[in-house]
Amino acid sequence: MPKILAFAASTRRDSWNRKLIRVAAQGAQDAGADVTLLELIEYPVPIYNADDEKEHGLPGNVAKLAEIFRAHEGFLISSPEYNNGYPGLLKNMLDWLSRPGVGGPPLSLFANKPCAIMAASPGKFGGVRMLPQLRQYLNVLQMLVIPQVYGLALADQAFNEDGTMKDPKADTAVKALGERVAKLVVKLAAS
Ligand SMILES: Cc1cc2nc3c(=O)[nH]c(=O)nc-3n(C[C@H](O)[C@H](O)[C@H](O)COP(=O)(O)O)c2cc1C
Repeated sequence: MPKILAFAASTRRDSWNRKLIRVAAQGAQDAGADVTLLELIEYPVPIYNADDEKEHGLPGNVAKLAEIFRAHEGFLISSPEYNNGYPGLLKNMLDWLSRPGVGGPPLSLFANKPCAIMAASPGKFGGVRMLPQLRQYLNVLQMLVIPQVYGLALADQAFNEDGTMKDPKADTAVKALGERVAKLVVKLAAS
């Protein structure tokens, strides 16, 4: 059973990206994956500082996050777009996790693991100006970012009360991201 880690790069209580990631996670589960929904607000990490790292080593939550990332074979990430880029919250966490001190070979938490990226925004561009930048960064971390993405525009009008998507086509496309990652993990494990 493929183990997939799904999270929104937002700590906002009513985050649209959290709603979107849950739809993608459902797609992965429907394809047979064991999905963990990670809440970044439960693992606050300080802004990276090389002096602090040298003096105190890895912060406790970075070590905990490293274990969580290590235990999963694929990722689903839904990110807000901030000023056409991805948020510092996400960059800071992944930069910490890329440090050699997390143990194992460099980037082993990420390398050769499939990942789908998506975005949700109340705006009309749906975060699509940010997604190529996020893809580029995750590729540097050696994740296998699948070609398909989803940018959900007008996210504040996109969900029903129960978290399902109003537009069945959008629902299918977002679930397909989860399904693709789940299937790719299985294929890679068999190769
Ligand atoms: C600093 C900042 C910059 C933002 N820049 C953009 C932007 O470039 N494009 C966009 O669509 N929305 C932008 N927004 C609005 C976010 O899409 C909106 O806050 C969204 O709800 C964040 O995602 P979340 O609901 O998952 O937290 C910005 C918000 C903030 C706080």
